[in-house]
Amino acid sequence: MSKILVIGAGGVGSVAVHKMAMNPDIFSHISLASRTKSKCDAIAASVKERTGVVIDTYGLDADDVAATTALLNQIKPSLVVNLALPYQDLNIMDACLAAGVHYMDTANYEPLDVAKFEYHWQWAYQDRYKDAGLMALLGSGFDPGVTSVFAMWLKKHKLKTIRQLDILDCNGGDHGQHFATNFNPEINIREVTAECRHFENGSFVETPPLSLHQSFTCPDEVGTYEIYRMYHEELESLAINIKGLKRIRFFMTFSENYLTHLRVLENVGMTRIDEVEFNGQKIVPLQFLKALLPDPASLGPRTKGKTWIGCQVTGLKDGKQKTVTIYNTCDHQACYQEVQSQAISYTTGVPAFIGAKMILEKKWTGDGVFNMEQMDPDPFMDDLQKYGLPWKIIEGPVVQL
Ligand SMILES: NC(=O)c1ccc[n+]([C@@H]2O[C@H](COP(=O)([O-])OP(=O)(O)OC[C@H]3O[C@@H](n4cnc5c(N)ncnc54)[C@H](OP(=O)(O)O)[C@@H]3O)[C@@H](O)[C@H]2O)c1
Repeated sequence: MSKILVIGAGGVGSVAVHKMAMNPDIFSHISLASRTKSKCDAIAASVKERTGVVIDTYGLDADDVAATTALLNQIKPSLVVNLALPYQDLNIMDACLAAGVHYMDTANYEPLDVAKFEYHWQWAYQDRYKDAGLMALLGSGFDPGVTSVFAMWLKKHKLKTIRQLDILDCNGGDHGQHFATNFNPEINIREVTAECRHFENGSFVETPPLSLHQSFTCPDEVGTYEIYRMYHEELESLAINIKGLKRIRFFMTFSENYLTHLRVLENVGMTRIDEVEFNGQKIVPLQFLKALLPDPASLGPRTKGKTWIGCQVTGLKDGKQKTVTIYNTCDHQACYQEVQSQAISYTTGVPAFIGAKMILEKKWTGDGVFNMEQMDPDPFMDDLQKYGLPWKIIEGPVVQL
């Protein structure tokens, strides 16, 4: 029985809070705080209607460390689940240290003015969390998150040594909009337009964004899509934490339509993240673009199709090279029926709920800052099967990349 505070009332926060409320034996008291209180109230109303559970809501600017610390001291939760934006990570980690509360998130800290997708800012909290006897769990979404746990489960049960790891993320959903992103547009576009990096033979190799791609037919009749190599934050921690790894890459599918829109937006400067002068005030073009694009949470009722996310892993088993693929398929409409969200928010919100559950149940413990792959994969994998993200295994590769 534990009190929890979720910060961030977006698409992911909504799914996580619904799932927590469906499990009141573990999440005995849920509070939800976000910049716009009315969004918290709308989620609370949906949770009440679907589960009968009442959750407390608060308006909070999580960049204000003193205000967040005061709220933590008032609520006294066991854990803060940070589902706001990556810009808030360090401020919320500071507030958790000040109030003596465990911390968890789904995305690495990002400075506002430069896209980095690097962990060093958060890893620098290691000693402070350790000395305070607190745990900070980083990246409990799908990727990062489930894919890191998938890899470690394969290492524990199927392949003694992992040599090559390809993370494959395919969204076969169609929302019928000309252009929309499936999670926060700012973060999504920053990721996709960043230089590509992948790890090979001991170091990261940089290549132009989306320069390597090919056709990929997803298993389970999800569809055939063009899949593109890009950088993703978990490559950094997995390259360190999987000993003996020779190569790790991340691939994601995009439609030609999505990429054409993105190219035009980039060419006209709309994806810039630096400030520009406009009518006597400073604006960041990408933040302005976000205000124009559909809210990812609004895509739920109209998105049809499935997601397919997995790891294709090559390693050694009994001295012989072997490839195994592990994955989850998720149906957008089924997610909407269950918690009123499309599958991208669902596939992030459910692992956030399970990560929080691992910490509250003390199945995952430790003092300091941890990435997902540093934890025992088994209890998390069991819960994926139980709580809406069942996984399957294919003995062999699904694509030659
Ligand atoms: N690991 C993964 O697989 C994965 C996948 C997808 C997303 N993510 C991460 O999940 C997080 C949430 O994504 P999302 O799609 O739910 O984003 P979203 O819909 O934009 O929601 C973000 C929420 O955070 C709130 N917020 C922003 N700044 C705040 C502040 N200073 N103080 C308090 N609240 C603040 C926003 O408030 P307003 O409503 O007022 O704007 C919004 O409610 C992001 O960090 C994203 O990168 C991870």
